[in-house]
Amino acid sequence: MESNNIVQNQSLPEPKNILQILDLDHPGAKDPDYRIRREMIARLARQYRQNPNIVPTLEYTQEEHATWREVYGMLDELHPERACAMYNRARKILEIPKDRIPQMRDLSERIRRFNGMRLGPIEGLVDSRSFLVSLADKRMFCTQYVRHHSRPTFTPEPDIIHELLGHAPTFADADFVEFSRLLGQAAHAANDEELKQIERLYWFTLEYGLIEEQGKPKAFGAGLLAGIEDMNNAFKTDADIRPFVLDEVIATDYNYSFMQPRYFIIPSFEFLKQETARLIGRFQNHKKS
Ligand SMILES: [Fe+2]
Repeated sequence: MESNNIVQNQSLPEPKNILQILDLDHPGAKDPDYRIRREMIARLARQYRQNPNIVPTLEYTQEEHATWREVYGMLDELHPERACAMYNRARKILEIPKDRIPQMRDLSERIRRFNGMRLGPIEGLVDSRSFLVSLADKRMFCTQYVRHHSRPTFTPEPDIIHELLGHAPTFADADFVEFSRLLGQAAHAANDEELKQIERLYWFTLEYGLIEEQGKPKAFGAGLLAGIEDMNNAFKTDADIRPFVLDEVIATDYNYSFMQPRYFIIPSFEFLKQETARLIGRFQNHKKS
């Protein structure tokens, strides 16, 4: 087995230019104050790259806290029925506050105590290999900014709500952390075609995964857990939910700009971990032959 410190001695990845990201069809694109705020928060992530031992703290504005409260309130209505049991349990244990945005540093420290996973700030999208490989080192790159207040129910890119209310609680589960670590390990050794398969596996699990509990689908992917419109889309009566078949998942394309047209449902996190190990074994066999 490879070391857990795959990326520890490598320089951290440079993300795409923040202004390019905001030139997309983004709710904050035409708000000059939002763009200035994003650039300020991006500077904190750059500080982290120079000193990756310290997650910088950020003083959120009243408007940002209000967006958090609004989204949290809506998610609170959905989670008891639609989130998986592991998530609901972990969110309670983590005591993520409802009235204000917690510091990434504090939450990172709390989830690290469960299974060693930690969070590190990044100002925006990075190349997928760098992002995934960091999981092998039990670190997930997370954004610190808040979505634009004009559309709290949807964000075209990950924000702190997606990271802390979507991803963070799922890392309280040992099987889930091990699955994430295996994904990162696979990405480290993958060729370009294999990397594409790993990206799809990541997308249909960590972002949009469903798990069956008492015969019903429940969300464990962060895109669903922290996205009201995404969650409603996955739980509409005619949603296209298919059994998780590894070869189908890794062959299915996705588009992150739109609502997902298809989801895959797993029977357990143990199963997901085993299927990922099987995929890694297949990659290794290809390399030997
Ligand atoms: Fe995410």
